[in-house]
Amino acid sequence: MHHEPLSLPRRVRFVELNAKALRALADGDLAGGSAEAGVALDEHFVCDRARWIFGYRADQLAEDPSAAPWITRAAVSEPDGAVVGDAGFHGPPDEAGMVEVGYTVVPGYRRQGYARAMLRALLVRAAAEPGVRTVRARIGSDNTASLATIAGFGFTRVGEQGNERDGLAIVFEVPADAIRAERRTASADVAGDPVGP
Ligand SMILES: CC(C)(COP(=O)(O)OP(=O)(O)OC[C@H]1O[C@@H](n2cnc3c(N)ncnc32)[C@H](O)[C@@H]1OP(=O)(O)O)[C@@H](O)C(=O)NCCC(=O)NCCS
Repeated sequence: MHHEPLSLPRRVRFVELNAKALRALADGDLAGGSAEAGVALDEHFVCDRARWIFGYRADQLAEDPSAAPWITRAAVSEPDGAVVGDAGFHGPPDEAGMVEVGYTVVPGYRRQGYARAMLRALLVRAAAEPGVRTVRARIGSDNTASLATIAGFGFTRVGEQGNERDGLAIVFEVPADAIRAERRTASADVAGDPVGP
């Protein structure tokens, strides 16, 4: 029987969005942001919400250059090279060794496994850093797609946060050691798909 290649796990690589790229995107300059990033970014990178977030990240970087290796990157699908979204951490590990993930998939690429691929890559990145102890995901209680995305990666619910403006968010965490242990098991079983579903 023939199996559709779509059922194969997706693979992504990350491309840095430096301070100039972030500032260009915040200004709505897609061509400038793409030129700085070295990849053709999608229109979704200059939608209102994205512009606000990239502006926030540009300010964060100006204040704390050590955040550069952690914050939002463009996610490029491998091997075809399409920019399918952005993903990263909210910043470097805090004093407790916690990093928080964030991700968005470009609307035209949703429901094809890219969020899972991006999350898998973020977890691998976090686990590779000895100072990281915990990876956190904060997800709106009505964000079905994001709640489904983290399923199977070992996250457990540790609390909730909310206010009237933003609604209820559920806080999930996974210990970095659990990710490291899973990666060791997966590399012993060469055919295994490391980290999560
Ligand atoms: C959440 C988001 C990143 C998911 O991206 P995606 O690439 O479509 O997700 P995937 O294809 O990897 O799917 C992951 C899981 O979510 C499920 N899913 C995706 N979209 C869904 C939807 N709209 N409704 C229900 N389930 C959904 C998939 O079926 C899959 O679960 P399954 O394997 O059990 O079937 C995307 O919808 C998005 O960018 N939303 C806006 C930004 C956002 O909410 N970011 C997260 C903030 S916490």
